[in-house]
Amino acid sequence: MAVKITGKTKRIIERDRKVFLTTTREVYPFVAERGEGDFAYDIEGNRFIDFASFISVYNIGINANKGIRTAIKQQVDTLMHSAFTDYYSELPVKFGEELISMFPKGFGKLFLSNSGTEANEAAIKFAQIFTKRSYNIAFYGAFHGRSKGSLSLTASRFVQRSHFGPFSNTIHVPFAYCYRCPFNQTYPGCGLACVDYIKKYPLSKEVDPKEVSAFFVEPVQGEGGYIVPPKDYFKEIKRITEDNGMLLVSDEVQSGYMRTGKFLAMDNFGVRADIYTMAKSLGAGMPLGATVVSNDLGDVPAGSHASTFGGNLVSVAAALASIRFVKRNRKRLAVEAREKGRRIMKRLKEMEERYEVVGDARGLGMMTAIEIVKDKKSKTPGVKEREKIIENAFYNGLLLLPAGDSTIRIIPPLTVSSSSLENGLNILENAIKAASKNY
Ligand SMILES: Cc1ncc(COP(=O)(O)O)c(C=O)c1O
Repeated sequence: MAVKITGKTKRIIERDRKVFLTTTREVYPFVAERGEGDFAYDIEGNRFIDFASFISVYNIGINANKGIRTAIKQQVDTLMHSAFTDYYSELPVKFGEELISMFPKGFGKLFLSNSGTEANEAAIKFAQIFTKRSYNIAFYGAFHGRSKGSLSLTASRFVQRSHFGPFSNTIHVPFAYCYRCPFNQTYPGCGLACVDYIKKYPLSKEVDPKEVSAFFVEPVQGEGGYIVPPKDYFKEIKRITEDNGMLLVSDEVQSGYMRTGKFLAMDNFGVRADIYTMAKSLGAGMPLGATVVSNDLGDVPAGSHASTFGGNLVSVAAALASIRFVKRNRKRLAVEAREKGRRIMKRLKEMEERYEVVGDARGLGMMTAIEIVKDKKSKTPGVKEREKIIENAFYNGLLLLPAGDSTIRIIPPLTVSSSSLENGLNILENAIKAASKNY
């Protein structure tokens, strides 16, 4: 095992446990020190290939790139916070113009916040203003954030919702999770029975569709397990929203920003949403969320929503440099995301064939994953097996993060080199092989 962890790491973890409430973490003892390109380094001097992009934040390279870091440094010396809720400033305007130029025609206007959950909170409120309706629809397995509005949409794991209810304004419906179809059917023979169910039951028996403000979707369900629905799925969901005057909100916090090979992941499905939310890689390492609404929805009343730090100049400087980089390299990034995504999927599919514990390999562009099971026939989630794989990979120099009950996400930066990609996939395969020893 290449990675060495000493008392230095252990002591920091002990101090951390004394001062911080236990909210998340507990994957492996990685104490971050620095990052560059494809690599993350811990305080022990260990170097890791990063297949998690620091939880989907560094799409264009770990610790962003030199141009972005320079823009951040310059802004720190000029003005960091401009009270964008009360005063005007040009930098956020420039960024807004650049961001909107990446959207389909007819978009629009945007609101800036600091995170994914805030971007979704804003979407919930704006949709209510635009439609004058109060219910929302979201999917089982969805993750839209942890503040109370977004949490009402989230239905991924009990631990995220326990003690915080009741959440009375969201109706949850089954997602097109074909590997574990809730209706025990197979696509395309199923004729999208899951969509039919939404129309026949929740929207016929539980809530009048005319009372629904917005249908929140993740184009690829992220935290819920990296689940890619069939190609024609969102066209059907869009039809439901159109037929009933609801808004379609595409949460692109994790799947957007070129991750799937397109700037907007929803574009892979040939569907235009009414509102889009983004965060994570949008700020290239700085906190930034955006809620982007279609022009035909109009505007919201002054004072109806705001955030002190929304439009923070340091975050916006990073995001502006980042989006300009993406714009300049859009074609290359798109082609590479698709090509590297294909290479990753080829290897993952081989692993699925070779190893009993790899139940399903799936992905869209470079948003890829494997679902670990105890065995292929029962499909029982391989929770312990996943833990072993992630731990083994860590001690061999590869950072991986889980998603869903037993999935491992594989999301290196889009800029990852061929050699890091191959090396990382080799470490992953060896870890799967080691976890498969008992089979
Ligand atoms: C799709 C999606 N929406 C919203 C969020 C919440 O983002 P944040 O943690 O920045 O609040 C996440 C975070 O993982 C996410 O994946």
